[in-house]
Amino acid sequence: MRSFINVDDIGDLNIAVKEALELKSNRFGYKHLGENKTLLMVFFNSSLRTRLSTQKAAMNLGMNVIVLDVNQGAWKLETERGVVMDGDKSEHLLEAIPVMGSYCDVIGVRSFARFENKADDYEEKILHQFIKYSGKPVFAMETATVHPLQAFADLITIEEFKKVERPKVVLTWAPHPKALPQAVPNSFAQWMNAAEYDFVITHPEGYELDPKFSGNAHIEYNQDKALAEADFVYAKNWSAYTDPNYGKILSKDMSWTVTTEKMSLTNNAHFMHCLPVRRNMIVSDDVIESERSLVIPEAANREISAQVVLKRILESL
Ligand code: CP
Repeated sequence: MRSFINVDDIGDLNIAVKEALELKSNRFGYKHLGENKTLLMVFFNSSLRTRLSTQKAAMNLGMNVIVLDVNQGAWKLETERGVVMDGDKSEHLLEAIPVMGSYCDVIGVRSFARFENKADDYEEKILHQFIKYSGKPVFAMETATVHPLQAFADLITIEEFKKVERPKVVLTWAPHPKALPQAVPNSFAQWMNAAEYDFVITHPEGYELDPKFSGNAHIEYNQDKALAEADFVYAKNWSAYTDPNYGKILSKDMSWTVTTEKMSLTNNAHFMHCLPVRRNMIVSDDVIESERSLVIPEAANREISAQVVLKRILESL
């Protein structure tokens, strides 16, 4: 595997989940693969889970790990070509990337949507510069439009907890005080469609995702209707994707918060969220603390999804 960005990169999902569950019960069985290999994790944005789980996964595989927080201690990076660099940015990404590539064998990149230019975000300009100029396999640790390590962990979690072959999975928008990217819902939708679950997306009008990701999912604007008979409820906020409102907040309607009353409409559904989560905006205290909440096992599975991806990359070196 040379890159991990979209669901297609992982191949057959049944095989990938089987491999994940095997690795989960034998985390240190492939330690030889990472011997004398170095993972560089480059963060343009904050992280708790991605940083810790990916580092742990790499250590399980015997790798060395370097973490670079671009905004803390590195030179401020220019990303646009043609700019006269007479401002506060001292180094260009086009030199920085091959330099980074010279110190490692695999690169993980976290670079969120900037909401300055929709085309730049959706063309994944920064990620593709890493792929083009680093000379090393590159995987997404949440980029402008996707968060595949999260979606893979979500899939593993659903497979572990589902009681029927084809569960009803509902992705629901929920309110948030800040404009958030579409990366998590995009990848979640892409992976749920690929898993061929009974998949429904519910959100207020104006929050439609890029059809490239929402695919054939059933879109239901009435959240109560969408939640009926759900086996899994995945809450997430995102900002508008469609023009002319790209990156904007269109609603902070608190009636979309996932509460015990909302969960009572479901088939005793499990609650899911990628974390970090704003309590009593996205989800009420009692729902996230309930025995049906999967937020902690879901986060724990981030180590496993990262380990499958790194293992496959190491096997291809
Ligand atoms: N879910 C997730 O990616 O968490 P972090 O932003 O803390 O890495």
